[in-house]
Amino acid sequence: MKGVILAGGLGTRLFPLTKITNKHLLPVYDRPMIYYPIQTLVDAGIEDIMVVTGGTNAGDFLRLLGNGREFGLKHLRYAYQEREGGIAEAVGLAEHFVEGQPIAVMLGDNILERGIGDAVEEFRRQGSGARILLKEVENPAAYGVAELVGNRIINIEEKPKEPKSNLAVIGIYMYDNRVFEIIRTLEPSERGELEITDVNNAYIRDGSMHYSILEGWWADAGESVEMLHEANVLVARQRRGKA
Ligand code: DAU
Repeated sequence: MKGVILAGGLGTRLFPLTKITNKHLLPVYDRPMIYYPIQTLVDAGIEDIMVVTGGTNAGDFLRLLGNGREFGLKHLRYAYQEREGGIAEAVGLAEHFVEGQPIAVMLGDNILERGIGDAVEEFRRQGSGARILLKEVENPAAYGVAELVGNRIINIEEKPKEPKSNLAVIGIYMYDNRVFEIIRTLEPSERGELEITDVNNAYIRDGSMHYSILEGWWADAGESVEMLHEANVLVARQRRGKA
């Protein structure tokens, strides 16, 4: 399985912190934000990774991450997203890299307390289709929100005003190679982006979407300055607990 980490976008919700740098290069406790998702994939045994970035600071990722030696990797791949065309557009840029293999996509601003090894293993056993991770949250309206009937997922709504559950779709998505065909069929949303929620709903419609419930805390560190601060506090607490 190959890994794809998305680190493009403008990060306008964190202005002025992101005025002269990319949000994924901002510090979270003692390391840059992008380190966390890379470590999460590596810990789950995914070692062939592409980082998709964009904007004027793209070169900084190369200087920061190099060939991934700090993570025990032999090499890292990079792709450049020319405009903020959406998460699904960014995933599409990895098509040549993945060479027909299944992929685990992780948003570069998502930080997890625990590993995703079990979910990755379940996806491997599933053999095809897609798998997402859900987490109960207090403010579902800020995220993609899953609608369940019994334990079957029937729809996802992106940032709904009236959420149908408190289960947020977190920023880790596992797909078979069909994802690239699906992305080609998408139309831009009202905000002009190719939405990952539309990709996920396509898998739900054909009955091949599965989900796991995430254990431990989850921080969408790029969601707001408050969440960035919260992520710093959570990581600091975890690190001190282990020290
Ligand atoms: O964090 C989980 C949430 O992430 C999900 O619940 C939502 O369904 C999903 O749409 C997404 O929502 P956000 O509003 O948090 O997405 P954001 O625009 O912050 O982008 C998330 C990451 O994807 C961010 O780290 C940068 C990257 N990205 C984003 C866009 C729009 C790209 O690489 N390229 C892009 O064009």
